Amino acid sequence: NSKKYILAIESSCDDTSAAVLCHTKVLSNVVATQEIHKQYGGVVPELASRAHQQNIVPVVHQALAKANIDKKQLSAIAFTRGPGLMGSLLVGTSFAKSLALGLDIPLIEVNHMEAHILAHFIEDEAQRAPSFPFLAMTISGGHTQIVKVTDHFTMEVLGETLDDAVGEAFDKSAKLMGLPYPGGPLIDKYAKLGNPTAFTFPKPKVDGLNFSFSGLKTSILYFLQRESQKNPDFVTENINDICASVQYTILEILMEKLQIAVEQTNITQIAIGGGVAANSGIRGRLRDAEENLGWQTFIPKFEYCTDNAAMIGIVGYLKFNKGEFTQQNIAAKARYAI
Ligand code: KG4
Ligand code: ZN
Repeated sequence: NSKKYILAIESSCDDTSAAVLCHTKVLSNVVATQEIHKQYGGVVPELASRAHQQNIVPVVHQALAKANIDKKQLSAIAFTRGPGLMGSLLVGTSFAKSLALGLDIPLIEVNHMEAHILAHFIEDEAQRAPSFPFLAMTISGGHTQIVKVTDHFTMEVLGETLDDAVGEAFDKSAKLMGLPYPGGPLIDKYAKLGNPTAFTFPKPKVDGLNFSFSGLKTSILYFLQRESQKNPDFVTENINDICASVQYTILEILMEKLQIAVEQTNITQIAIGGGVAANSGIRGRLRDAEENLGWQTFIPKFEYCTDNAAMIGIVGYLKFNKGEFTQQNIAAKARYAI
């Protein structure tokens, strides 16, 4: 049988995930999201590692069962080497190495940030791939990057965040309003009912294509403190307008940088990924840009936007085709640039 089956493992942050791909098609993509972090209002690294340890074997079994594949049919094991939380990465890395050794099949290391981008090449009726060259913007709770993609493995980071990620900016702003973690989807929900220009927040002055979101968080904090002193019910009475204004400011920052990137590169194909790609505001702004600026925009199916092993599997398959295998002495890498 000449069909290639790749088992992929993702454990860089707080999602334990395993997927089976047959070439570019996803046969299964199982994600165990760790609920434990909710009560702490953010990811606790030590608890994440422990949960990965608990979840990894059942998640892999489920992925194989859903794909209806026996582990003896696997052609290779792909895993996330980095970037991410070291303790979390170690669980997936050690597991992948052991399984590859036991089955005597190749091991393939994958960069998580490349995987967010190459997720666009998963073959699925619900999504289409951009053609080269394109600009990729990865926006999630852990990342904010604009990357020029010339080929599957020729990528150049044009800009990234100097402090918080954009999802963190959503979540921390939501926390200041007393909303539960993760607050991004709630801001999106309330923003739909509010006036985006009700309140103005300063946009950071950052040169080039880099981002900064920590100043926004501070200005929201002072704004809410000041207004709540005058009216203790300010937040509850104005939640829709506050959310709409915060979201508007964040989207302005993202769209301005994208526009600069388009001007600099003359590339108008824009591919978005990461959990924040779910935001209805950014989706609306991208549709506007298609109409008014002639951009072509691409967003993968949502399950391939948030952290998942299917995106690790597509990179695994592409590397398998190039014969790019990894030795058993490979080490996880918390900081791992594209
Ligand atoms: O990719 P993801 O699931 O996990 C990582 O960060 O790796 O992204 C989660 C982030 C959270 O910060 C969450 O608040 C944000 O994505 N998010 C949203 C929306 N849905 C998820 N932010 C704004 N609007 C949304 N609709
Ligand atoms: Zn991610």
